Amino acid sequence: MKLKALNGFKDIIPGEVEIWRHVESVARALFQRFHFSEIRMPILEKTELFARSIGETTDIVEKEMYTFVDKQITMRPEATASLLRAYIQHGLHVAKPVQRLFTIGPMFRHERPQKGRLRQFHQMDVEVLGTDNPRVDAELMAMGALFLEEFGLSASLEVNSLGCPECRPVFRKELLRFLEERFDLLCDDCKRRSATNPLRVLDCKNPKCHEQVQEAPSIQEHLCTACSDHFEKVQAALQQLDVSYKLNKFMVRGLDYYTRTTFEFITGDLGSQAAIGAGGRYDGLVEQLGGPKNKPGIGFAMGFERLVLLLQQQTDRKIPKEGLDIFVIGLGDKASELAYSLVHDLRKNGLKAAMDIEMRSLKSQMKQANKSNASFSFILGEDELKKGIGVLRNMESQEQEEIAFDLSQINLDALLNRLTDTKDSYFLHGKRCNKKMI
Ligand code: HAM
Repeated sequence: MKLKALNGFKDIIPGEVEIWRHVESVARALFQRFHFSEIRMPILEKTELFARSIGETTDIVEKEMYTFVDKQITMRPEATASLLRAYIQHGLHVAKPVQRLFTIGPMFRHERPQKGRLRQFHQMDVEVLGTDNPRVDAELMAMGALFLEEFGLSASLEVNSLGCPECRPVFRKELLRFLEERFDLLCDDCKRRSATNPLRVLDCKNPKCHEQVQEAPSIQEHLCTACSDHFEKVQAALQQLDVSYKLNKFMVRGLDYYTRTTFEFITGDLGSQAAIGAGGRYDGLVEQLGGPKNKPGIGFAMGFERLVLLLQQQTDRKIPKEGLDIFVIGLGDKASELAYSLVHDLRKNGLKAAMDIEMRSLKSQMKQANKSNASFSFILGEDELKKGIGVLRNMESQEQEEIAFDLSQINLDALLNRLTDTKDSYFLHGKRCNKKMI
């Protein structure tokens, strides 16, 4: 029997991993521009953490968690709960009244795998803790929109408010009354949800339920004065930052901790897994998890897999090419010996250098230089050795030049000078290197 990765778990192999690294580096740079600090949490947490935050009756907690039942620990299905646990455990609210944190890593949900939906997936997650200022809600949505824009991706931002413990129960009652009248027309899941989590019926994907809820009462019309005022200010701030959005009264999110603002970035280019990123406010959650009072929070997470799929569909994507600076080609024993120490010296000087340790033919080594996206190759052949030169070749322009060296010691400085003296270059570890785009 062949051993394969588990269903819904995926290797990210060379060729694909470059896009992932690019996405991650754009994300990190953006989070820094918005003044977020990184936090890393363990993958395993007590099961209770997720039950108490995401909610006992949510799909995630009811059916999708990877739990070691005998130990009552679970592989995190999302980052917010763990991040808040860490925030509380380390008293991070003391260090800064408003904490802006981000984390990047794998999450685990036992869902039915399909395009854009995995069992191990990866999120970039940001959270702002310690303020309920509506400007922060808009700032986060603006950051999400900017993130997608930087990749040339378009997505529509849908926004809703889910109210607070004061106004939501009133809305819930009214919604229940509405659903009871149509109970027989709902799908089996929604019949069950009506009793446990009726708001979820509003975003059921079943066309029958979707049709039934079109005339359902709108939560936006049932917000208390404070929530309605907050929602208006969020929208005013979105307009001030020039972020386009549309209101979606059916968006309820699949996690129970949300209060007030919720949002999703939706794409039409991914089939049924249309949400690239999503989040919202959770003003009572810190306290609910045993943390200090009055520490409202808001955040969102973007899914790596969906972003990567969208980028792979782009024909004009710009991903920095991850190539070598130089591939050294040694032909014959003496040249290979020289090449071996030259490659090490180049690496010590901060350059990305490689050679063919198996000393194959010139043709094969040239192929390898091409495949490794080297900016230059440096050819040390037997004839060149006799003449005391090596040939430096610009792999893009195909220009060549001879560099003199004596047999025992290649003139590293001459080579380095030449390598760093190219137009269109950038600095890497203090050395100037060539930059290409694919
Ligand atoms: P979520 O909507 O469950 O929210 O997930 C956020 C994003 O993670 C989704 O929009 C999607 O891109 C990605 N995602 C979720 N499940 C999968 C999956 N099975 N396969 C691939 N990608 C997936 C949360 O997780 C909240 N913690 C977001 C948040 C942060 N709310 C406040 N702060």
